[in-house]
Amino acid sequence: MSEDQELSYSDAIKKASSSITRFPLIPVKGIPLMNHIAYNFDAIWDFCPDSSDLLIATYPKAGTTWTQEIVDLLLHNGDAELCKRAPIAVRSPFLEICSPPPIPSGLELLNKMDPPRIIKTHLPFQLVPIGFWDNKCKVIYVARNAKDNLVSYFHFDQMNLTQPDPGPWEGYVHKFMRGEVPWGSWYDHVKGYWVEQEQRNILYLFYEDMKENPRREVERIMRYLDLSLSDDVISRIVELTSFEKMKENPMANYSFVPKPVFDQSISAFMRKGEVGDWKNFFTPQQSAEFDEDYKKKMKHVRIPFRAQL
Ligand code: A3P
Repeated sequence: MSEDQELSYSDAIKKASSSITRFPLIPVKGIPLMNHIAYNFDAIWDFCPDSSDLLIATYPKAGTTWTQEIVDLLLHNGDAELCKRAPIAVRSPFLEICSPPPIPSGLELLNKMDPPRIIKTHLPFQLVPIGFWDNKCKVIYVARNAKDNLVSYFHFDQMNLTQPDPGPWEGYVHKFMRGEVPWGSWYDHVKGYWVEQEQRNILYLFYEDMKENPRREVERIMRYLDLSLSDDVISRIVELTSFEKMKENPMANYSFVPKPVFDQSISAFMRKGEVGDWKNFFTPQQSAEFDEDYKKKMKHVRIPFRAQL
């Protein structure tokens, strides 16, 4: 992808700025999605991937961008320059995203690319186009503990001026618990992929494991992709995908999305990148209430989340 095309992606967003607004949510099979996605859902559902395509699936703010960058580097033998060929949103299109024209939709970007493609989605398991399973595509799922995921989403919803206004913190915690946020319930999302992981050969990763030992998790992804890279290349990939490096990388830090859409003066896309930041936001009472509700929602499926390291 040339610099011109990269500019044109940012320019397309700039051109659409006047039609950018906080889009309302419309349920698709019970999952609240932004209206442009909901209106286009038939085309998204009909998307048929190639068997060589890879899907990176996450609940929003669980470490999607981090994983996309790791995978792109793994597939390009750790070549940092090549992995700056375009913004991450162009290198690894967001399957279901639809915005006002002329911003290219995820499907438009995908249709211009040859497989193998690195495809991002936030769709819950049951809304993933069936072609991914029929064609036995590789799928990486990344999950993040609920409280940090919530805190990250709260800040993102403040700066992403296309998503519903999160409102004050207290009310947001309850909205998240009820799944009244874009892409719906965190609880159902993480459980949906968890129960399918063996049958569908899904690599289920945790953000906390990636923070604890990034090299171990990069190697795990490498093996899943049937790659074998040298120790030096793996070390370089770990370094290039550190929070600090990605925060400075204009092709990964979403500075390519202009301010009328992502206002990073409100909150940076690469905000903190930590485990346990929830302790700075939840009061003891909110935390107890959240934990009580969590136990009920998660009692039938035991997923080994860690809310601190
Ligand atoms: P915080 O808001 O807690 O900082 P997504 O890419 O799914 O939108 O997730 C964004 C979250 O992942 C943000 O979390 C962001 O800072 C964090 N993140 C992005 N790149 C990271 C990296 N290389 N290491 C650790 N965290 C990273």
